[in-house]
Amino acid sequence: MTEPHEVAVVPGDGVGREVVPAAQQVLEAVADGRNTLEFEFTDGEAGDAVKERTGTALPQGTRELVTGADATLFGATGETSVEVVIPLRRAIDAYANVRPARAYPGVDALQPETDLVFVRENTEGVYAGHEAELAPGVTTLTRVITAEASERIARFGFEYAAEHDYDVTVAHKANVMRETDGLFLESVERVAGEMGTECETALMDALATRLVRDPAEFGVVICPNLAGDVLSDLAAGLVGGLGLLASANVGPERALFEPVHGSAPDIAGEGIANPTAAILSGAHLLEYLGHEEAGVSVREAVAETLAEGPRTPDLGGEAGTEAVTTAIVERL
Ligand code: IPM
Ligand code: MN
Repeated sequence: MTEPHEVAVVPGDGVGREVVPAAQQVLEAVADGRNTLEFEFTDGEAGDAVKERTGTALPQGTRELVTGADATLFGATGETSVEVVIPLRRAIDAYANVRPARAYPGVDALQPETDLVFVRENTEGVYAGHEAELAPGVTTLTRVITAEASERIARFGFEYAAEHDYDVTVAHKANVMRETDGLFLESVERVAGEMGTECETALMDALATRLVRDPAEFGVVICPNLAGDVLSDLAAGLVGGLGLLASANVGPERALFEPVHGSAPDIAGEGIANPTAAILSGAHLLEYLGHEEAGVSVREAVAETLAEGPRTPDLGGEAGTEAVTTAIVERL
């Protein structure tokens, strides 16, 4: 028997409570078929509902669960997201946010050639939290960029690109944010030099246009924090919607996996949320924990299901979360 992987499960609010159990079901099915893979799942609460009940959106117990687990499967939170997911990412020093956006056969995509991976700096930029009201009607935000964090994300991005055979583009706005993005760009280019690798640099506004028109031109896109947030949602629009985008928040010792979509209160409780993003986040989790082959088998089962159905309404189908999940499990 192997040591079980301790996985924290934090569904959060809204459709998080529907798609995370779906992803967990897939992970359980994968583990059932393999005697070298075992999970110990522990649930944690976070988000709007728990705040309503207890006054805090991120209970200490959940924070400790996540910082103690090998990996976390996270869903989505509503109004309290900045009180939950940002502190959780910070708690495990999840400096790299990996967000693949690829088109799948069978899914109506604006740009069927898309195969992008955003590598988003996840700890600083405008997310560093230094916002203030100086006086009524006057507010400020301090953007933090350090050489250390920029070099760290660059190294991660270049290694990821080399491993998966992608070209690298670096997004920035150093023509305006000369100090902060100037430092970001300089740091990434220094790492490229040290690693003996190449990268294209692109102003993020112009890059947005090029990504829409010709995404196939790009592979890994290394981004400062906010740019990565915005451009990854843009890419979701190219491949058929947010229901497809998974993400990994990777730190030096732990990682948290979550769909890029939010809690979707408009469809929550209806049982029709697309579980693809959460299940693909589970595939990332498997690969992170060293079960490459298991991760690939989940990806293949997801791709087959997207191609052949059943599909959820966001993809033009009529199936519910459960039917899609069952179809994926059966294809494993
Ligand atoms: C995301 C979300 C979060 C972010 C918010 C909810 C804090 O938009 O994961 O993309 O900006 O990182
Ligand atoms: Mn976002």
